[in-house]
Amino acid sequence: MQLALSTWQEVESYLKTSTGIIVPIGSVEQHGPIGLIGTDHLSSEFVARGVGEAIGAMVAPTLAYGMSQHHLGFTGSVTLRPSTLIALVGDVVESLAVHGFRRFFFVNGHGGNIASVTAAFDQIYAARSLGEARPAVHCRMSFWFGPRTKALIGELFGDKDGSHATCSEVSLVQYAHQEAIKHAEMTPFQAPRSHGFFDAADYRARFPDGRIGSASSLASPEAGKRLYETAVADMTEAYQAFLEY
Ligand code: NI
Repeated sequence: MQLALSTWQEVESYLKTSTGIIVPIGSVEQHGPIGLIGTDHLSSEFVARGVGEAIGAMVAPTLAYGMSQHHLGFTGSVTLRPSTLIALVGDVVESLAVHGFRRFFFVNGHGGNIASVTAAFDQIYAARSLGEARPAVHCRMSFWFGPRTKALIGELFGDKDGSHATCSEVSLVQYAHQEAIKHAEMTPFQAPRSHGFFDAADYRARFPDGRIGSASSLASPEAGKRLYETAVADMTEAYQAFLEY
């Protein structure tokens, strides 16, 4: 069930059955020569909607933009400042909490969001702990890949998956958007590994084609289909456990 495709009366009815909602979050940033700029939000959205369809959970509109300052050296990348992302997450949660939502499960596609979203959750809890009269809420964020999906990624790509523009995320999005599959020669075949980076110019100098540690050309929509099915199963289980916690 998608919030964006529901009426307010349907949301009221849903809240009589559950106070949980799934919020996909990602980024708008380069993903190397064949990965799409939307990779991170398209992947989290695809899996989150899969969970929504599987168990009738409410899925919020995707928070497409994320904290991507280090990708700004590549055309088309967009970043929110950490403070903007913290404010965005806080306002989304507090708005939905006004209406009765109490369990917020963020499905994430981008590691760069973790610090800011975690800070947003702490801001939300701090308001309550400091005595503001707001309803108690639980928030959690998980990458779209759970334990079984991680095992499958290892089986499919081993140490070629990498840590940015990974074979797994590119595959998932190829399966979701077969109309936008790209092909390109990549040298080296597997991009350099990361030992950290700083700002956008530094990132671009270290990782010239945008990838980190990945051999993205191993990606395929067939692998993406297997990853999708496993990830939906993983996230369904994680969401249901979160609701019970
Ligand atoms: Ni990504």
